[in-house]
Amino acid sequence: MAERFNVFDLFRLDGDAAMVTGAGSGIGRIAATTLASAGAKVAVTDIDGEAAEVVAEEIRQAGGEATAFTLDVADETAIVAVVDKAHAAFGRIDILVNNAGMTRRIPTEDFPSETWHEILAVNLTSAFVASREVGRHMLAAGEGRIVNVSSIMGMSGGGLFPSIGYYSTKGALVNFTRGLAGEWGARGVRVNAIAPTFVRTKLTENLRGNREMVEKIENRTPMGRFAEPEEIAGGILYLCSRASSMVTGHVLAIDGGWLAV
Ligand SMILES: NC(=O)c1ccc[n+]([C@@H]2O[C@H](COP(=O)([O-])OP(=O)(O)OC[C@H]3O[C@@H](n4cnc5c(N)ncnc54)[C@H](O)[C@@H]3O)[C@@H](O)[C@H]2O)c1
Repeated sequence: MAERFNVFDLFRLDGDAAMVTGAGSGIGRIAATTLASAGAKVAVTDIDGEAAEVVAEEIRQAGGEATAFTLDVADETAIVAVVDKAHAAFGRIDILVNNAGMTRRIPTEDFPSETWHEILAVNLTSAFVASREVGRHMLAAGEGRIVNVSSIMGMSGGGLFPSIGYYSTKGALVNFTRGLAGEWGARGVRVNAIAPTFVRTKLTENLRGNREMVEKIENRTPMGRFAEPEEIAGGILYLCSRASSMVTGHVLAIDGGWLAV
């Protein structure tokens, strides 16, 4: 008799290994803990090694498997080394979440070139280098899933405040996702992105301290509020799992309707 189809099985990641960048807090932490709770072994990486260790320990305490690595994604050599170590530790890497990111809200006329290059390295070049390095293992295995963390600001020009480095890199991540999906699709590696709205994390702490800005954001959002980090988990798991087995090159907005209006 044919086995009964159970859609929830498609969300399980038992036997898989995952690497998440910037996993010491916020969306990266939620990505790491979610993938682990679905059964994946997780390389929890962050520039803040102590924060990465706290998240890895949280996963182990919950019965999962995780190893922490200190990784500054602006350092290409370090990405190569950590991918090697994570692959050696787990014997495979099936899932990569390119999550680490930064922002600088500065008017363009005052935006230093140094800051531009820093944002480019952290938000965009890091995703290219990590995908290339992990992608080689995925292509050799004939299977893999990459999720890039873009933003609603990668799908629009912002409008509420100046942040040209962020808008540029998050937009580039969208087309990076599409390009790589096209290149690797026939070889079993799927590449997708998420585009979250404003999420209650450290990244938006300053913004959230500005009552006028919070009101502007809430008024501009059909659902009228910021997202909680936990509300990003389902989209990440979907794109990292077999539940999305026919989905590649897609940008999933998790935005309370921001991009719809
Ligand atoms: N919070 C939001 O509103 C929002 C919205 C859309 C997209 N995003 C994106 O989500 C991602 C995660 O942001 P968050 O909101 O969770 O922020 P966060 O500040 O809570 O977490 C970012 C994590 O990345 C780490 N990090 C910073 N620079 C790094 C580097 N060079 N190398 C490695 N790790 C580094 C930090 O130590 C921190 O643990 C970013 O790419 C961000 O652009 C955030």
